[in-house]
Amino acid sequence: MKLRVLLSLFISALVIVSVNAQETTDQDLLDRIKPVGKVHVAGAAPAAAAGPRTGKQIYDGACVACHTSGVLGAPKLQVAADWKPRLDEKGFEQVWKNAVNGINAMPAMGTCGDCTEEDIKVAVEYMIEGI
Ligand code: HEC
Repeated sequence: MKLRVLLSLFISALVIVSVNAQETTDQDLLDRIKPVGKVHVAGAAPAAAAGPRTGKQIYDGACVACHTSGVLGAPKLQVAADWKPRLDEKGFEQVWKNAVNGINAMPAMGTCGDCTEEDIKVAVEYMIEGI
């Protein structure tokens, strides 16, 4: 009889210990897989920039990949020959809207995930500066 009591005490203790061990393991696992640090791409605009970003910051962060070299016929940065026919034909508002909604190979919002429509406007204004 005494042995059975001891045995059940022992088993209860074992259960408690193993439940605790499981919790520790889960927490350890979460600690192990959490990101070590946030990656910052050189030249990209900081994600949590204070205040509104400039057109250049937005351009450098999201648009530069296609609009510098003219990938897939993208109008190049501040190149009048690329922009003037578009602006003359559609007007600024429509050109801006097309950047927001996407047009042909131009992705909606220019792939800028955290941009507002106003950010896109400022970026387009930067892209056509001096034209
Ligand atoms: C994946 C490549 C790519 C990226 C990234 C990209 N663009 Fe474009 N963009 C294009 C291409 C290609 C066109 C030409 C589309 C056409 O008229 O056929 C274009 C056209 C445009 C136009 C002209 C639209 C019109 O109606 O003529 C504007 C404005 C524009 N992009 C703004 C932006 C802005 C602002 C960003 C960044 C926030 C951006 N783009 C990012 C590829 C890109």
